[in-house]
Amino acid sequence: MDLTVAADRAALDKARDALGPGRIALVPTMGALHEGHRSLVRLAREHADHVVVSVFVNPLQFAPNEDFSRYPRTFDADLRACEEEGVAVVFAPSAEDMYLPDRQVEVSAGGMGGVVEGAFRPGHFDGVLTVVLKLFNLVRPDVAVFGQKDAQQLALIRRMVADLDVPVSIVGAPTVREPDGLALSSRNRYLSEADRATALALSRALRAGAARAETAGPAGILDAARAVLEEAARFDPPLLLDYLILADPATFAPVADGHRGEAILAVAAKVGTTRLIDNVVLTL
Ligand code: PAF
Repeated sequence: MDLTVAADRAALDKARDALGPGRIALVPTMGALHEGHRSLVRLAREHADHVVVSVFVNPLQFAPNEDFSRYPRTFDADLRACEEEGVAVVFAPSAEDMYLPDRQVEVSAGGMGGVVEGAFRPGHFDGVLTVVLKLFNLVRPDVAVFGQKDAQQLALIRRMVADLDVPVSIVGAPTVREPDGLALSSRNRYLSEADRATALALSRALRAGAARAETAGPAGILDAARAVLEEAARFDPPLLLDYLILADPATFAPVADGHRGEAILAVAAKVGTTRLIDNVVLTL
């Protein structure tokens, strides 16, 4: 079936009706699609008969000092990628179509939205959950796929679905990495060659922490990861650490000594003008 591009909600309704019977999977994106997004689409196809990809750079989840205006927009290439991956519908609304000019109500990400990543990006997760709930209401998918790379976002979407009885199954997809370990991200295209060399410290730090998971407790894991990040703070350009945390993957509360079971080792740092995040799930 050919790819249909729906530029507003009326066109989306029409395209959705034309899909015929079967399960629908939604892959919400902000465009600038890369191999990581393609892997989300492939996973979505395993869970549904039709895949809808949304492409919308959501102004609500960017603070005024963040990169909304320079966020990469590569719509033609995104459409080609969707076509190659067998996507049925690309929903690419304008901000005017998504948000009423006098809108008042937003989803609150609650306390969990204000910790870790949320402490550095106040309001970010409210903006994410608001647009994701709207996309769920507009597309009405059976299942939606999100990357594990945005681990706190994934955990909060699971929370929203549970807390607000949203009838959509959430599937998490593993992080896709470059051969040298760098997690794929639309923001990687901002990195100069020198930035990129420094940025590799994120995944190196996570590997160093993970290597201690069998023998060390939370403090030992964090120490091993921090040593790598401290070394990279002396590189040119330097790595500027926002946070390194070992947290409960469902709540993002820091895990205490003696914790058993899964824990997420998550890091965020700036390299040059680019802010990067990465994480790995460990079993303690
Ligand atoms: O992960 C993203 O790309 C965005 O946060 C999402 C889920 C598409 C909402 O705008």
